[in-house]
Amino acid sequence: MSGFDRLARPYRWLEYLSFGRALERCRLHFLPQLADTRRALLLGDGDGRFAERLLRTMVKAGAPQPALRLPDGSVTETAASEDMQVVAIDGSAGMLAILQSRCAFARNLLVTYLTDLTQGLPAMLQYDRFDLVTTHFFLDCLSTAQVDRLVGDVKPRMTANARWVVSEFSVPPRGAMRLPAWTIVRGLYLGFRLLTGLRTQRLPDYRSVLQAHGFVLDQQTCMLAGLLTSELWRLDKSPEPLES
Ligand SMILES: C[S@@+](CC[C@H](N)C(=O)[O-])C[C@H]1O[C@@H](n2cnc3c(N)ncnc32)[C@H](O)[C@@H]1O
Repeated sequence: MSGFDRLARPYRWLEYLSFGRALERCRLHFLPQLADTRRALLLGDGDGRFAERLLRTMVKAGAPQPALRLPDGSVTETAASEDMQVVAIDGSAGMLAILQSRCAFARNLLVTYLTDLTQGLPAMLQYDRFDLVTTHFFLDCLSTAQVDRLVGDVKPRMTANARWVVSEFSVPPRGAMRLPAWTIVRGLYLGFRLLTGLRTQRLPDYRSVLQAHGFVLDQQTCMLAGLLTSELWRLDKSPEPLES
């Protein structure tokens, strides 16, 4: 059982109590640009609030088709096109159960895996290709070395034009917000350690990792005076320098 299981139900309300709608704004910041997504890989999506919004956006943008009757007799709201899929991977069965029920309207488009992502992606996905990867407030559960391994695993499964959207906490390197942000992040890690047993206790240097794997930061927006960051990364397509 994952330590996040016991947080799954109250997670949304704990978030609203601590940060209001700020984390939600951060998660959804790039959503309007993601409507053309065909195959998305959502890592550590938790209770699926982003998954739901993404699925609704994809379905709306895709060619509208009639509802589909599933083998169990139930009916989906949409049958969207065959190549659309959202794969959500999380280490908490409790979180995944809520995600599945939230996204039941598009369950024919959704595949979920219960997996500890520090051990890599499920082998079943080795031939899959994704044009979107998202990690919303998930990379902070990993060490820099674990992020490095994960990015190395995910990158070969991304299409050339794929995007990787990251939402994260951030401690500004200088300025008046540095100490308050550091204190909030420390407090959050302490809280998660107590509630979930999370071992990680500092933000990983995921930006250096992504850059080292050939990603470039395409767009970024900061919120709450730099405490939150929403980032859109792409694979660098600039030509390799010619060898002399
Ligand atoms: C802080 S929550 C963030 C949830 C959601 N993405 C959000 O934006 O609120 C971290 C999520 O990552 C999952 N998680 C943490 N460590 C994990 C691991 N090693 N493997 C897979 N999932 C993990 C937790 O179960 C939880 O759902």
